[in-house]
Amino acid sequence: MLAAIETSCDETSVAIFDIEKASLGNSFEKSLLSNIVSSQVLKHREYGGVVPELAAREHLVNLPTVFDEALKEAEIRSSDIKAVAVTSGPGLNVALVVGVSFAKALAWGLDAKLYEANHLEGHLFAHELEDNSFKADYPRLTLLVSGGHTVLVLVRSFRNYEILAETIDDAAGEAFDKSATLINLPYPGGPSLSKLADEGEAVFKFPIGVEKEANKFSFSGLKTAVHRQVKKEDLESETAVKNLAASTQDAIVRALILKTKQAAKEHNIKSLIVTGGVAANKKLREEAKNLAESLDIEYVSPSPKYCTDNAAMIGVCGIYQHLNNYPEAELSFSPKPRWPISELKCFE
Ligand code: KG4
Ligand code: ZN
Repeated sequence: MLAAIETSCDETSVAIFDIEKASLGNSFEKSLLSNIVSSQVLKHREYGGVVPELAAREHLVNLPTVFDEALKEAEIRSSDIKAVAVTSGPGLNVALVVGVSFAKALAWGLDAKLYEANHLEGHLFAHELEDNSFKADYPRLTLLVSGGHTVLVLVRSFRNYEILAETIDDAAGEAFDKSATLINLPYPGGPSLSKLADEGEAVFKFPIGVEKEANKFSFSGLKTAVHRQVKKEDLESETAVKNLAASTQDAIVRALILKTKQAAKEHNIKSLIVTGGVAANKKLREEAKNLAESLDIEYVSPSPKYCTDNAAMIGVCGIYQHLNNYPEAELSFSPKPRWPISELKCFE
C-alpha cells in the first residue's frame, strides 16, 4: 500500500493506493482505495485569503484524523503501508512542513519507502486517476491553472517537460479570486464567481493581457479593469453583479484559450489536458473541448474533485517514481516552497 499526503495550501488530504494493482499505461481508478480531503476554506474566509500560520495549525490538528479516515475507508492498517509520497513543494512553507514531518515519521516508523512529490506534477497527471479521462496520448499540451500557477506545459512523457508559457503576474485562480473580492463575492472567488457568471452576460469586454507574446499570460490589467467597472455599477443589482462575473470569466477564459491555441498550433501535440483548480470551471472546459475538436486532437480534464487539491494526484507522482525505480527521499530533506516544473528531471 502507498499513502499519499498533501498539505501545501488549505486542503488537508490523504489517499491510499494498492500499489500491487497499479500499472503505468492504465488509469489508477482500481488502485485508488481512498482519497479524503478536508478543506479549511471556511477558516480562511474571514481573512479573504489563505493565512499561512492558520493553515499550518489546521493541518496539524486535522492530518491525524484525515489519515485515520483514509485508512478506514481503504480498509487497511497503517502497518500495511510500504511507501509514502508527500507534497514537498511548491506551496506554503509552514503548511508543507506539517505534511512532510508526518510523512517522514510514518516512513521511518513503518520502515516504508519515502517519495517527495511536486504538487504541480500531481496536477499534470491527475486525469490519470479515472478510466474516463485516462487516455491522452503523448506529446500532451497541458494547461495547468490553479490559485498559484498558470502554465502551459508540453509533456512528452513523465519527467520530460517543456514550459511554453507562464504568467508574469497573477495566476488565473488569483484573477478569479481577486475579481470576485472586488464584486463582493465570498472567498474563494473562483467557484462563487463562475456560478453567477452562468446566469449573467459578458457585456463588458475586459482586457486579456499580453495578446501578442505567446509565452506569457498576464491578469493584472483585468483586475484594474474590473475595479474601474465596479465603481460605475450598482453592486446591489443582481444583474450588474452577474454581468460583471460573466465578463470576468469571459476575459480569463479567452486569455487562457488564446495562448493554448497558439501553443497547440506551434507544436505537434496529440492531446490537450486542462487541469488544476480553475479547470473545474465549466466555461473553460467547454471552450477547451471546442478548441481540441477544431484541432482534431483528444481533450481531457480530470473530474472537478481531482482538479482541486487532493492527495490522490500526489499518490500518482509517488507511483510513477516507485514503478520507475526512482531513488527514495532522504529522511533529512526539507520542503521546497519554490519548486518549478522546469527543475523536475528524469532519473537515469
Ligand atoms: O489547484 P487548487 O485547488 O489550489 C492550488 O494549487 O492553488 O486551485 C484553487 C483555485 C482557486 O483560485 C479557486 O478560486 C479556483 O482554483 N477555482 C475555480 C473554480 N473552482 C476552483 N476557478 C474558476 N472556476 C471554478 N469553478
Ligand atoms: Zn493545486
